[in-house]
Amino acid sequence: MRYRDFLRSELSGIVSNDFILPSGFHLVGHVALVHLDFETMRYAPLIGEKTLEYDKRIMSVAVRTGPTEGTTRLPSYELVAGDGNTVTTHIEGGVEFRLDPLCLTFSGGNRKERSRLSKLVKDDEVVVDMFSCVGQFALHIAKSAKVEVTAIEINPEAYQFLLENIKLNEMEDRVIALLGDCREVHPKRTASRVVMGYLHNTIEYLPFALETIVEDGGFIHMHMNVPESKLTDIIAKIEQVCRNYGYSSITSVHHVKNYSPGMGHYVFDIAAISEA
Ligand SMILES: C[S@@+](CC[C@H](N)C(=O)[O-])C[C@H]1O[C@@H](n2cnc3c(N)ncnc32)[C@H](O)[C@@H]1O
Repeated sequence: MRYRDFLRSELSGIVSNDFILPSGFHLVGHVALVHLDFETMRYAPLIGEKTLEYDKRIMSVAVRTGPTEGTTRLPSYELVAGDGNTVTTHIEGGVEFRLDPLCLTFSGGNRKERSRLSKLVKDDEVVVDMFSCVGQFALHIAKSAKVEVTAIEINPEAYQFLLENIKLNEMEDRVIALLGDCREVHPKRTASRVVMGYLHNTIEYLPFALETIVEDGGFIHMHMNVPESKLTDIIAKIEQVCRNYGYSSITSVHHVKNYSPGMGHYVFDIAAISEA
């Protein structure tokens, strides 16, 4: 039975049909993350208990209490049912990720992009992941090819999970983690490919990605939230920034997911070629 129908039947006589019940949840390891609207929020503990019954994989249920905020993308969730220990192991594409989804953002909507990118990477590449979090891109890439990956993360909590995940997946020989601001700690002139998995004004970080690729050029995958009407402007800006750093560029754009009304999450695949 579908989740919403299950909740509707379990809560009949308690929650009026006027209330909009959630159609699904985001499962990260054993933790179900549920979005309720303002009106339905008063039933959160009850919906939490029913969610535990709905799917036996779920041990903890948390509801969203506000927007994801700040540079470190801190989510706002509150535990409403089940196990208070929300540190969990999430498995995606054969990679194991330890994390606490109540403290860190792990987007299920980026799964296809992680898989697409991993297929582009060839053996012997040197890759830098500038916004690594717990290793979502870095570890997928390291699993799919014989590569050297440097994973940079500014948030000490995410960095600790990143270190744990490198060990857990036995990738110590391939993945190096750096704690710090990628604008300051990025390696210079070493990478064939740079991943920029961050959505907010990411183009401001492009000069640092251009300093990271080898002198001849390389590939940069720049994620960013952009209204569709602004895509051509962003491509023109990318060309300009690349030119300022001595590179010509060819950019193709892929839609990753809808972010908010009118705003899409896109990835700009940039081939930067030295003009020297
Ligand atoms: C929302 S996560 C995205 C994780 C992953 N790249 C993905 O796309 O699925 C963005 C991460 O970038 C980190 N971050 C933000 N600014 C940073 C910076 N200047 N240097 C390094 N990491 C940064 C945040 O702490 C957060 O863990």
